[in-house]
Amino acid sequence: FAKKVTPIPKAKYGGRHAVTMLPGGGIGPELMGYVKEVFRYGGVPVDFETVQIDPKSDSNEDLEYAITSIRRNGVAIKGNIETKSLDTDVISRNVALRNELDLFVNVVHCQSCPGIKARQKDIDIIIIRQNTEGEYAMLEHESVHGVVESMKVVTEENSERLARYAFDYCRLHGRKKVTTVHKANIMKLSDGLFLEVSKRVAKEYPDIQHDAMIIDNTCMQLVANPHQFDVMLTTNLYGSIVSNVICGLLGGAGLLSGRNYGDHYAVFEPGTRNTGTAIAGKNIANPIAMLNASVDMLEHLGHDSHAEVIRTAINKTISEDHIHTPDLGGQATSIDVVQNIIKHVQALSKKCQIV
Ligand code: NAI
Repeated sequence: FAKKVTPIPKAKYGGRHAVTMLPGGGIGPELMGYVKEVFRYGGVPVDFETVQIDPKSDSNEDLEYAITSIRRNGVAIKGNIETKSLDTDVISRNVALRNELDLFVNVVHCQSCPGIKARQKDIDIIIIRQNTEGEYAMLEHESVHGVVESMKVVTEENSERLARYAFDYCRLHGRKKVTTVHKANIMKLSDGLFLEVSKRVAKEYPDIQHDAMIIDNTCMQLVANPHQFDVMLTTNLYGSIVSNVICGLLGGAGLLSGRNYGDHYAVFEPGTRNTGTAIAGKNIANPIAMLNASVDMLEHLGHDSHAEVIRTAINKTISEDHIHTPDLGGQATSIDVVQNIIKHVQALSKKCQIV
């Protein structure tokens, strides 16, 4: 069951959970500040261990410290760590962290949000994305001058556990259909293996429909007729592309959250993993995606009543009060949105008597 691979949270001291916080670059630090503020007003029993990773540093010391911290706490909330350098020796800290912790699955629940002007309505799609291999193997070299080769790694083992995760997820959450997204017509061995494994695993789940679609067509279908999709099972890069396409259809990078799971650890973050560097420090970044990630994290930790209060406060702010940052066509600042959420959190917490 998908629940089975959801790791058990570890660090709990005196009824409070310890969680690793990785603010990352760009808008990450300000968004984490909002999460802390909302948690404070909601009386959420979570303590953060903050680790700042410097992407420009020559040493991997802070990355290693972050990994140790997540191993200790079991759970993290994360902003994106920018990888600007094109030097192949400078690896993406984000990818290294996911690989090191074996966070083999990324789940993005793409659901329309009432009250937001979007290109498509009533969308409800789950993306289940391979998170540790495929096109992100970071194995590139220049074989002769002017000719570079890039390796895409697909393994039967990781394809199989991801496919099982997707079908188990369907059973657990009442979903009806899995669509494998691939490019096996061109990448016959790598995507071919991913597709074949998903077909084999699908046979063990006769109660769940299974079909397959080429990535190019998937992007077109997503824009033209997205309601045909239920759960998408994708390789690493295609998962990033389709989640960005759907986020674009639903209102942009500032809304949806993403969850990363392995057998032992869980990391929560905004769904599109952007850094938003150009809008950092301007009080215009949409805080919702990171706050949604923090609610996912609370649900994972079992703080269901706190999660419910914050989720309701977010939804009221967006859908009833229509307090929207400029990315959603509004004029509110990040702080306006957060203050409104806090107002609801305080009222709802009193009502539910949780603070
Ligand atoms: P970006 O950070 O420039 O964001 C794309 C657009 O979304 C920008 O217009 C930005 O202002 C907007 N945006 C992002 N978050 C927002 C928020 N919370 N509120 C309002 N607007 C928001 O994205 P770009 O150029 O794709 O990536 C920047 C860095 O992020 C890259 O260097 C890469 O390292 C990292 N990254 C991006 C991923 C992606 O899916 N786009 C995936 C993984 C890493």
